[in-house]
Amino acid sequence: MEIQIRAAHLATAKSSALALFLPQETTPSTLQLPYSSVITRVYRQKDFSGKLEETIWLYPPEGAERLLLVGLGEWNNQIKENEARQNFQNAIGHAVQAARKFAITELQLALDERVVEKFGYRLVAQYAAEALWLANYRFQKYQSTIPDKEKLLQKMTLLINDEQQIVEAREGLRAGEMIGKWSCFARDLQNTPSNDLPPARLAAIAAEQAAALKIACTVHDEKSIRELGMGALLGVGQGSVNPPRFVVLEYKPQSAPRANEAPLVFVGKGITFDTGGISIKPADNMDLMKHDMSGAAVVLATLGALAELQSPLHVIGLLPMAENMPSGSAQRPGDIVRTCNGKTIEVADTDAEGRLILADALAYAQRFKPQAIIDLATLTGAIYVVLGETAAGLFSNDADLTARLKNAAAYTGERVWELPLFPEFFEYMKSDVADIRNIASKPSGGGASKGAAFLATFAEGCKWAHLDIAAMAHPREDKPLVPKGGSGYGVRLLLEFCRDWPES
Ligand code: BES
Ligand code: MN
Ligand code: ZN
Repeated sequence: MEIQIRAAHLATAKSSALALFLPQETTPSTLQLPYSSVITRVYRQKDFSGKLEETIWLYPPEGAERLLLVGLGEWNNQIKENEARQNFQNAIGHAVQAARKFAITELQLALDERVVEKFGYRLVAQYAAEALWLANYRFQKYQSTIPDKEKLLQKMTLLINDEQQIVEAREGLRAGEMIGKWSCFARDLQNTPSNDLPPARLAAIAAEQAAALKIACTVHDEKSIRELGMGALLGVGQGSVNPPRFVVLEYKPQSAPRANEAPLVFVGKGITFDTGGISIKPADNMDLMKHDMSGAAVVLATLGALAELQSPLHVIGLLPMAENMPSGSAQRPGDIVRTCNGKTIEVADTDAEGRLILADALAYAQRFKPQAIIDLATLTGAIYVVLGETAAGLFSNDADLTARLKNAAAYTGERVWELPLFPEFFEYMKSDVADIRNIASKPSGGGASKGAAFLATFAEGCKWAHLDIAAMAHPREDKPLVPKGGSGYGVRLLLEFCRDWPES
């Protein structure tokens, strides 16, 4: 897929399919002038009113072969920038889906001056490119034939009205492409079936990407994980013929002034398949557990984007990976394992495995004396009950970190919602036989908070936040920018969080 940007006058531009963006209750803009009479007619007939989600195809007598009108919703001075951005990006998503329905493979999109006025040329191009990547994604790698109507757009051209602004717009385009492209990279990993993505393979992909982008990468195999003393990660992986891996990625800007700052550490849960282990899951929907490595995919993609965007930050990615299987060698409920900081965990339920591998990774993270640790994990089914597919659960021991994540969420639309870490949640995790249990001793609800409290004890002494992305990682419904299946949720959020992280 290819995205270009051009300065053009619509009166003369040739196009087989051209999309125009129109606010609600309005008149055509000067850019749309060659089509103003046909637009006015459509509005008069009330066949189209510019509402968000509205699209209509027209066949104008002159100019473009096909004209797509796309609703922008309300668009005035009162509308907040975040909201406007999301409306604009969703409108782009609707345009892409409308084009795909007609098996159109080349689309031109006119960036209206009313949209440009709101964001400037750089950001408008960035938001558009990002949305095009996100919307024009389907996981088709395993389909031998793809029907025309499911084909993806091949070529998209953004049209602006001012030749002078093309350099700035191109810069924005590049940034947007990076954000979109790496989100889709994460989606590809999330969607890949577990038979083709055991821990060793996921680790090899991480190493490959790292090598191409000059990110330092160490892959610890089973033996090396044992030497590190990561008994919890080993325990989760021991039931599978596909042994665990622990991947350490380090991105350092080459000569930037901030290269020697303490790092930010991102930790991603990398369970390549979660059967539950001996505490086995019911068969219904167990196939969705191929997505249980979403946290790792998102952290890997985020580091890839940071490297390609030449971020000035120092960032470490920790990816504990294992396949959680029941077998003769699997760990048993009641087993006690020891993490790399010497703490012991009673494995009361082998299906609470994410927190086990994260315990080792969070304990390991301390050695970097990081400025902050953020972990992303498809940790609990309970987060569905609380938030549905609307936001990730955010748990943190630090108010500033919480505020920054909330800001990044509001800006990108990848929502988070803060949930509590009350003292009771820590109480419930106490064990009679080890330092801590991996599930609560009382079935008293609050499952997402209990899981988070367990993690908090391994991040003690460090600014830390946990994002429970179980409901966001693989939505069940298609949305304009996020198809069902692996969503890449978290890449945009973390990149925006990084962009805004202050100098220490
Ligand atoms: N990977 C699951 C959580 C999950 C469930 C993600 C549904 C996506 C959709 C996790 O390892 C798990 O099994 N959690 C248990 C924890 C329980 C045993 C305390 C759960 O939520 O049931
Ligand atoms: Mn599980
Ligand atoms: Zn899991």
